[in-house]
Amino acid sequence: MRKRFALSVALPTALLLVFATWIVLFQSRSTSDLGLPKFIPLRESKEKITWRNFQDKVRPIDLENSTAIFNSIYAALRQSGSDLHPVGVTYFPAIIPKGTLLFHAGKGEMPEGLEWLAMDHEFSLNFGSRRQAYGRRSLSRRGKGPGGPGGPGKPGGPPGSGKQDQSSDQPKKNFDRSGSMTMMTFRATRDLNRFLYLDGASASKSTTGEMDTQKMISDLVGSQSNSTSDGDNGKRVMSERLYAERICSWGKKYGLEGIIRVEVGFELVLCDFLDGSTELVSNNSYPLVNDMLGLPPPTKITAENGWPLDANGTLIEDQLTEEQRAILKKEDDWETRMRKFDTMDSFGQLLAGEIHDKGDRRIHLDYRHMVTGLNRTYINPDPNNRRLLNDDISLEVELGMLHDLENSLKGGFDSSESTDWQQVLDEIVDKFSPMLKGMERVLDAEDKSVNIVAENITRYTTSFVRRFIEKQREGSKLDSGRDFAIYQYSRPLKDLATDSDYLIWSAVVRVVTEVVDTIYSLHETLWPIVLSEFQGDVVDDAYSRVTDSQQRLKGLIKALNWIPLNFECEKKCDWDEVCYTPSWGPSPLGWTLPDSTDEHFGMHFDSKRQRQVIDSELRCVKIDSLL
Ligand SMILES: *[C@@H]1O[C@H](CO)[C@@H](O)[C@H](O)[C@H]1NC(C)=O
Ligand SMILES: *[C@@H]1O[C@H](CO)[C@@H](O)[C@H](O)[C@H]1NC(C)=O
Ligand SMILES: *[C@@H]1O[C@H](CO)[C@@H](O)[C@H](O)[C@H]1NC(C)=O
Ligand SMILES: *[C@@H]1O[C@H](CO)[C@@H](O)[C@H](O)[C@H]1NC(C)=O
Ligand SMILES: *[C@@H]1O[C@H](CO)[C@@H](O)[C@H](O)[C@H]1NC(C)=O
Ligand SMILES: *[C@@H]1O[C@H](CO)[C@@H](O)[C@H](O)[C@H]1NC(C)=O
Repeated sequence: MRKRFALSVALPTALLLVFATWIVLFQSRSTSDLGLPKFIPLRESKEKITWRNFQDKVRPIDLENSTAIFNSIYAALRQSGSDLHPVGVTYFPAIIPKGTLLFHAGKGEMPEGLEWLAMDHEFSLNFGSRRQAYGRRSLSRRGKGPGGPGGPGKPGGPPGSGKQDQSSDQPKKNFDRSGSMTMMTFRATRDLNRFLYLDGASASKSTTGEMDTQKMISDLVGSQSNSTSDGDNGKRVMSERLYAERICSWGKKYGLEGIIRVEVGFELVLCDFLDGSTELVSNNSYPLVNDMLGLPPPTKITAENGWPLDANGTLIEDQLTEEQRAILKKEDDWETRMRKFDTMDSFGQLLAGEIHDKGDRRIHLDYRHMVTGLNRTYINPDPNNRRLLNDDISLEVELGMLHDLENSLKGGFDSSESTDWQQVLDEIVDKFSPMLKGMERVLDAEDKSVNIVAENITRYTTSFVRRFIEKQREGSKLDSGRDFAIYQYSRPLKDLATDSDYLIWSAVVRVVTEVVDTIYSLHETLWPIVLSEFQGDVVDDAYSRVTDSQQRLKGLIKALNWIPLNFECEKKCDWDEVCYTPSWGPSPLGWTLPDSTDEHFGMHFDSKRQRQVIDSELRCVKIDSLL
């Protein structure tokens, strides 16, 4: 009796509580956003996508926007993919989990405001450690720098690009070659759940659009924020420190912790070192190789010290004294041998970058709050030639994106609540790439009879179509067929909760639909040829069926523009090599291999796009080619 009474009171009370909570959460949120574009509260709008309802739930989106969204997510937090599709137009909400270690090489001073941190110590170390050169090399490397600089908070870009911005105002303190260097290791003291990852080659210091996601926020908030840097004085300047300061100052209100970008390895701009979100756990001095070897400092080869130098500072070899020759011989030898140690540092950074070609799993993404320029305005579908700040984008669209970013930051991010869309896409790309490429090869083969081609293609298609064959019984609750194939590959792993979820999912459905439709179409076009042959018949239009299929498949492959369909390593690289994807920003390799006339290693000039693009065959780079 008592129990029953308790229950009869408890249940309605519980329901009332749930309702009240709903009122508080839902209503207060929507009123606080009065007058602003729609903001879908998370919990209330979760929607189950099933094979029965999914076609009714997808939102309209064209194929070009769909593939762009698809490919951006595929490349997210992947070193190689970010350079292969260099111009990002998307802000990805990111989380750096508690306990993650982050690196900063420099003089050991505790950063006070914002500062750069690397995800890999090799990245930090390779630019932080600059020893003085010995012998003849101390003359030749003046102003050049070994292997090209690279690293968080560092100026400079690859030489000879012509597109690099020279106005960077990065601090130069890390460059001091004589000073001692320390490697500071920080640790996240909690989940840093309000980072924005900017996709593409977002740290490239270029002016071709790779930095537009930074520039957009910076420009929009520039007038309101107080920056300690010299402002842009109304000019269109590119200045990543200015961008970082403005982004951090804008984001402070929403708890933004920083931004994440790619160089060779991923790096963060942490907005505030003093807010307790990170702690310094190690600060060890990093000895230079010459010090470890106990060498004296390099001889200063200057005219004042009696060295024969011409007006350009070049040694006049035939005026060297015996003593000077002996000094050079000794120091040149030291230098050559120490270079071997140095180049291992450079190789270490290349390798640390290449390791993350498959992704940097230390950083988690929450796709529910992704904000992209895609499907908001026209954006050129070519990821080498598009840009966010293009002529079409309106201030209204830009402000809409800024507003969406502010809204998404408010709640903080939680990747465990989000579908891991990259996982979904990997399954799709890994499944269909070999199939599409395999069929393309069959269709491209010359001197093959149409019957052989039809048979070889339908080997692929029947295997797929048979699994999804339509054999509906009346009143069956089960589904099969083409729609089910689309559902199987595109289904979300979690209920959809936000507009961004719908955007991504709709894009995925659109892309998978295109793939599945093409497979079915090839099957329906070529199967009759196979069938007639078995039955001793001939199909009259067999030849045009084959050429139609070839066109259709090529059209699909071009439209998809998947990275694995277009790029691959020349071979499996050896242990002392990395498969190198050229970087658009600073890299230990620069843009030229030492002793090479190849001005843009691994790239070529594309006259249609009027810019350098990466070769479709990526090359292996050996440690010793960095010497
Ligand atoms: C880190 O070490 C360097 C070199 O020993 C020292 O100068 C610096 O003060 C240290 N920094 C911190 C924050 O302890
Ligand atoms: C900018 O700086 C000025 C003077 O230092 C100050 O009065 C103003 O409040 C600041 N504005 C913002 C938005 O912080
Ligand atoms: C110095 O360099 C300039 C330009 O490369 C060259 O024309 C000139 O001959 C050089 N001078 C000497 C003394 O070698
Ligand atoms: C993408 O979607 C937007 C908004 O609907 C549209 O303006 C644009 O033409 C679409 N296509 C491309 C390639 O941007
Ligand atoms: C097609 O199949 C035949 C027999 O299986 C094989 O010998 C031939 O190499 C295939 N052709 C292509 C282009 O794949
Ligand atoms: C894409 O943009 C169009 C036009 O603005 C819009 O109607 C549609 O809902 C968008 N699609 C998605 C999936 O957000």
